[in-house]
Amino acid sequence: MDLITELGTSTATAGHPSGVVARRSTVRHYLMCPPTHFDVTYSINPWMDPGKPTDQSIAMSQWQRIHDQLVDLGHTVDLIPPLPGLPDMVFAANGATVYGDRALVARFRFPERVAESAGYLDWFAARGLSVQQATRQNEGEGDYLAAGPWLLAGNGFRTDRRAHVETEEYFGRAVIGLTLVNDKFYHLDTALAALDERTIMYYPDAFTPGSQAILRELFPDAIIATAEDAEAFGLNAVSDGEHVLMPEGAANLTAQLRNAGFEPIGMDVSELLRAGGGVKCCTLELHDQRAQ
Ligand code: ARG
Repeated sequence: MDLITELGTSTATAGHPSGVVARRSTVRHYLMCPPTHFDVTYSINPWMDPGKPTDQSIAMSQWQRIHDQLVDLGHTVDLIPPLPGLPDMVFAANGATVYGDRALVARFRFPERVAESAGYLDWFAARGLSVQQATRQNEGEGDYLAAGPWLLAGNGFRTDRRAHVETEEYFGRAVIGLTLVNDKFYHLDTALAALDERTIMYYPDAFTPGSQAILRELFPDAIIATAEDAEAFGLNAVSDGEHVLMPEGAANLTAQLRNAGFEPIGMDVSELLRAGGGVKCCTLELHDQRAQ
C-alpha cells in the first residue's frame, strides 16, 4: 500500500462518509513584508508593465487580507521591515529558504532586487539563526518548495541549477531539480504548490518533458492545473495541510481541491499580480521550531 492510499484509508472515513480524504492543518510560521513601497518601476517578468499605474493602497489591503487570514487560521506571521527603493520586497518568499535554525539567503538574478538580501541577512542573524547567503543565483522559496522528504527546486529562469547542489548540502535535504520553460511561470511557486507532505498541484506545461516525468513518478496522484488555472496564478498558493490560500479565479483548481478534501480560500491579488506576484510570493515559510 503506498502512502497516499494509506492516508486515504486511515483518515477518509471519520467525518467524511463520502470517502473524501480528511485533511489536517498543522501550525505554521511565516515571514511577510508589507508592500509599503510597492510599485512596478521595471520589468523582470512578463506580468510587469511599468507603463501601467499601480495603487499602493490596494496592494496593501490585498496583502493585509492574506496576512490576517493566516493569523485567523492560527499561524504565526512575523514581519520583516520593508526597505525603501525595493518595490518587490513584498515578495518575501524570494528572500531565503529556511529549515530549523538555518537560513540560506537569496542571491537575486536581477540588480533591481539585489539589495533585498541584506535585509534578510540581518533579520535572520538578529534572531540567532545560522545565516549564509547563496553563492549562486538562488531566489529562495520562490524556487524551493518542501514536499515530504524532498526539496522541489526550480531552475530555468531565476535560480541557477548549480545552486541546487549548495542548497542540498546546506540543509542536508534531497533536492529534486525541476526545469521551468514558460517565462510567465518563472519561479517554481508560480507553477507548483505543495499542499501537504505528499500532495502537490502543478501545471505540467510549465516544465520540460523530463521534469514532467519526474513529477508524474514522484506524485502520481497530484492535482493537475489547467492553463486557465495557471494563468489565474492559482498555483501560487499557501497550504497548511488543509486550508489553501490561493489567488481567486482558478475555478477548476478550486473545485479539484475541494473534491480532494482541502479547503480553498480565494484571495484577491489583482494588484500584486501587476508585479507578477500572488499569495505564496508574499509568504516565506519558516520551517522552524516555532511552527510546532
Ligand atoms: N516582481 C517579482 C520578480 O519578478 C515578483 C516575484 C514573485 N515571487 C515569487 N515567489 N514568485 O522577481
